Amino acid sequence: MSRRIRIAVLASGRGSDLQAIMDACDRGDIPGAVVVVASDNPKAGALERARRAGIPVIVLAVRSFPKREQFEARLLEALQSYQPDLVCLAGFMRILSPAFVQHFVGRMMNIHPALLPAFGGVGMYGEHVHRAVLDRGVRVSGCTVHFVDDVPDGGPIILQAAVPVGDDDTISSLAEKIADHEHRLYPEAIRLFAEGRLRREGRRVRILPSPETHPSNPLDALESVGVSHED
Ligand code: GRF
Repeated sequence: MSRRIRIAVLASGRGSDLQAIMDACDRGDIPGAVVVVASDNPKAGALERARRAGIPVIVLAVRSFPKREQFEARLLEALQSYQPDLVCLAGFMRILSPAFVQHFVGRMMNIHPALLPAFGGVGMYGEHVHRAVLDRGVRVSGCTVHFVDDVPDGGPIILQAAVPVGDDDTISSLAEKIADHEHRLYPEAIRLFAEGRLRREGRRVRILPSPETHPSNPLDALESVGVSHED
């Protein structure tokens, strides 16, 4: 994929991951642009950040949609009108149904503030994650970017970053350290996707080499257009 990709971001909170993605697009680190930001929380800081950047927003307040199917139907319709190549969950607080996820297989990502599969799944979000990490006394936490599938936090892992847990770490100090890594890791994963370098192989994701660091063999190029180079 060499063209610029269209990215939709779903966020419910302050939107620091969204900001990192928008900044990476502006710098040209990601060959693409955030074309829409959707939220279930009208007060989300993420919406403010999007508006400031002139990016269209979709706001679907939870209480207007008592049934999940209604919420998801509206969200799907609104998202599809922007024709996203990639949908990024960035602190989106609603678990999306398998039926919804089905529309974006291989092109929906999430970031989680721990090293999955540890400290993930239903109920593991925000402070709950860091509290559980500290309670368990693990020495290393971090963050994970993964493709989204039917199992919450269970999709194929794309990238991870490790963050040491210090004896004096608190929920907020750990959250802050991990957030710094998230702001680097998420744009990196999106860049790899945009460059067509993520290949899903079952539960694993293979990262293909960059064509710049591994120039393709000119003979392979001939083969690909049907010219034999054997004689
Ligand atoms: C991050 O910790 C991310 O790992 C989790 O939600 C949080 C979003 O933070 N999925 P922000 O709203 O982007 O600042």
